[in-house]
Order: sequence, then C-alpha cells, then structure tokens
Amino acid sequence: KGNLPQRFQKMTFRILLCLLFCAFISPLIRCEKYPEDAESALPLFQKWKSEHNKIYRNHMIERSKFKVFLENLKVINELNGQFQGKTTFGLNHLADLSQKEFSRIVLMPKRRAPVFEKERYVRSSLSGSLPDSFDWTNQSKVTAVKDQGAAGSCWAFSAIGNIEGQWAMMGKPLTNFSVEQIVDCDGMEDVAKGEADCGVFGGWPFLAYQYVMRAGGLETWEDYWYCSGLGGAPGTCEVCPAPGYNTTLCGPPIPYCNMSQSCVTKLDVSKFHPGLKVMSWKAIDQNETSIAEQLIKLGPLSVALNAELLQFYHHGIFDPPSFVCDPKNLDHAVLLVGYGSEKSIFGTKDYWKIKNSWGPKWGENGYFRMLRGQGKCGINTAVTSAVLARM
Ligand SMILES: *[C@@H]1O[C@H](CO)[C@@H](O)[C@H](O)[C@H]1NC(C)=O
Ligand SMILES: *[C@@H]1O[C@H](CO)[C@@H](O)[C@H](O)[C@H]1NC(C)=O
Ligand SMILES: *[C@@H]1O[C@H](CO)[C@@H](O)[C@H](O)[C@H]1NC(C)=O
Ligand SMILES: *[C@@H]1O[C@H](CO)[C@@H](O)[C@H](O)[C@H]1NC(C)=O
Ligand SMILES: *[C@@H]1O[C@H](CO)[C@@H](O)[C@H](O)[C@H]1NC(C)=O
Repeated sequence: KGNLPQRFQKMTFRILLCLLFCAFISPLIRCEKYPEDAESALPLFQKWKSEHNKIYRNHMIERSKFKVFLENLKVINELNGQFQGKTTFGLNHLADLSQKEFSRIVLMPKRRAPVFEKERYVRSSLSGSLPDSFDWTNQSKVTAVKDQGAAGSCWAFSAIGNIEGQWAMMGKPLTNFSVEQIVDCDGMEDVAKGEADCGVFGGWPFLAYQYVMRAGGLETWEDYWYCSGLGGAPGTCEVCPAPGYNTTLCGPPIPYCNMSQSCVTKLDVSKFHPGLKVMSWKAIDQNETSIAEQLIKLGPLSVALNAELLQFYHHGIFDPPSFVCDPKNLDHAVLLVGYGSEKSIFGTKDYWKIKNSWGPKWGENGYFRMLRGQGKCGINTAVTSAVLARM
C-alpha cells in the first residue's frame, strides 16, 4: 500500500509517463481515421454541416456534396498517412469542395513567379545574427484573420495584410483596410510580364500596390466591406469587372454584374483613410535568410506559394516533397508574419509562420507553418512589400 508520500510519488510517475506518451508517442501512431463508408460517414456529415452552417438548396446538391465529402475523408486519411503526423490534416469548412473545385474556386490559376527589375530588390545588409524566432502577430502589426470565401481574391488579402502592417509599423493604430476595394477597382496590368489583376480570378500583390499608388488611397474595411465570395450568404455581391479589366489576360469576366455594386458606384475617395499613401514597393530576393532579415526590418511581407495541398491542413510544419508541391506553380498569396524552430522527436525544424485568409477556424487559428530554408512550395519566390509615404 505504501504511505502517502510514496503513493504520491507513484501517481506523479504515472502522470509523467502519460504526458510522455501524449507528447512523443501518440503522434507516431495516429490511429484515429475518418470512416470511409457512406453509412458511418453520414452522421459525421450532418455534424459537420451544422458546425459550419452549411445549407444546401436541394437534395440533389446535398447528395452530390455528400459524395464529395466522402471522397475528401479518404483524401484526408491518405494525407495523414503520407505525412506521418508531422503535419496533420482534418475536416474544415472546405470539405464540400473537391480538390478540383478548390483549385478552381479558391486558388488562383497557376503561375510562375515574376522576375522584377533589379532596382526593386532590397539590398541585404545583414550584420550580426538574427534572433532564433520572431513574430509580428503579438506586436499589433497583424489584423484578425479574414475569410476570402469562394473567390480567388487571396492576392488582395495578401497585399492589404502587408499594407496594414506597413501602416502599423509607422506607429499608426492597427486598422483593417478594404480588400473589396482592391477586388472591385484594381484592373492593373503589367503587359511586359503578361500579368494582370483579375478580381475574383486572381492577381498579384505587386500590382495591387501599384493600384493603390494610382488610386491615391484606401478605404477601411468598415467603409468598404468584403462581399465577394460569400457564396450567397447575406451581403454577397455580384462584382463587376474592375475598370481596366484585361480579358486577354484574365479571361471573360463573370457574365452577370450589378452596376450598383461596382467600383464606379461604391468607391468613395472622400473616405480614403487620412494619411495613407502607397509611394512605391519593394521585392526581396529568394534567400530565406534575407527574407527573415527583411521581415524583421520591414514588417509582415506578402508571399505567394503553391497551396494545392493546404485545403485540409490542420496543424504542424508543412514540409511536402517538391514533386508534390511544385515551387514554380504559384496559386495562392498569403502574409508572412514570423518564423521560429520547433524541436520534436523528428529533430529540429525551422519554420515560417504565415497568415492565411481562409477564416480563423482553418489550420492553426487561421495561420499555418511551413518548413523554412528550402524554398518549399515556392514560398520564397514572390516576396514583396509596399512602401508607404511618411508624414
Ligand atoms: C512575441 O513572441 C515572440 C516569440 O514567441 C517573443 O519572443 C516575444 O517576446 C513576444 N513579444 C511580445 C511583445 O510579447
Ligand atoms: C478588424 O476586423 C475584425 C473582424 O474581422 C475585428 O474583430 C477587429 O477588431 C478589427 N480590428 C481592428 C484593429 O479594427
Ligand atoms: C491586355 O493584355 C494583352 C496581352 O498582354 C495586351 O496585348 C493588351 O494590350 C491588353 N489590353 C488592354 C486593353 O490593355
Ligand atoms: C443590385 O444591387 C443593389 C444594391 O446592393 C440591390 O438593391 C439590387 O437589388 C441589386 N439588383 C439586382 C438585379 O440584383
Ligand atoms: C543567404 O544570405 C546569407 C546572408 O546574407 C548568406 O550567408 C547565405 O550564404 C545565403 N544563402 C544562399 C543559399 O545564398
């Protein structure tokens, strides 16, 4: 039986053993798998629907969505097998989109990273070493995670995230700026590079900075709120192509458009946020040490990557082999906010911390981490920042 202190010691030992198991052994043997047969998956589907407020217009749609959902359960199980618990994948609000639909609706058409003029690139001036870890999110330089919904507007979220950071870096109060203004009004193109901003069909943060330069300012999110991609939920808008929309580069615009919801009607320059002016923009070379250096020096940076495999990302440091994540096929733009290293039984892994625009419930509270230092998924190939006027 033992006396009290001995029993206490035994108990402590057991608790320690249990903790050890939870921390180190259980990630290795991920026994939990989603059911793959329709009968057991149906209750899961019902629960998932109510969790994510999914309402389908009729039974036909519901049935086809369930088929997609069932297919996705298999996809998630496979991914969890392949990544062996180093990155975990799970159900989220994107589980009723097939991988093809996800690519077509949420991601952008695949594109190569642009090569900018030499003068654009920031010169590295690294003296001494960088801190082991860094994070802008706890320093009031990063606004709340947003949800782009069913629209390829990530590039506008990425550009605005950078501008919000630049504004806060000047000592101004952290402010949500208007992503919808960019989606509605930015029809910029770079004919030499063969690139253009195409609203819900994709675009480039570097062109978005040029749009804000030309427009002369930005409204706040509150004044010009996001309405693309809400999927018919209250407040969804039918966006018209932006002035200057280039059909050759962007493809045909959405056939229906409500002029009272267009840039021409909605943009109100008298509401441009006082003092905010984009003066120029910069690019950062592909060296991930330079990127870390500039992240600290400049603030959160706009980055692009191949995000094909991120649909069901749940947790961990994303580290796919390059044959499944081609770094030359960029299809998503996001915001780099920090970096660090994580020690685990798999060894030490350096990572980037990145803000996504798929809502706060996706991934690690709306963020994800990716392996740092190996050009994973092209994360280091299109790094840019706006330059704001100081007044
Ligand atoms: C922010 O987080 C980093 C890394 O987690 C930490 O080193 C730093 O001290 C934190 N800064 C503040 C202001 O809390
Ligand atoms: C930004 O908008 C979010 C809602 O998306 C809100 O919760 C947050 O308070 C706003 N932040 C600022 C700094 O206004
Ligand atoms: C659209 O892009 C094409 C291809 O780069 C270019 O030749 C054309 O001049 C552009 N059209 C307009 C109206 O700017
Ligand atoms: C166009 O948008 C306006 C303002 O949002 C709305 O009141 C109107 O009903 C819409 N028209 C159509 C045909 O949807
Ligand atoms: C990246 O830049 C750092 C610091 O300037 C340098 O030490 C390192 O060799 C560079 N790495 C590569 C792969 O060029």
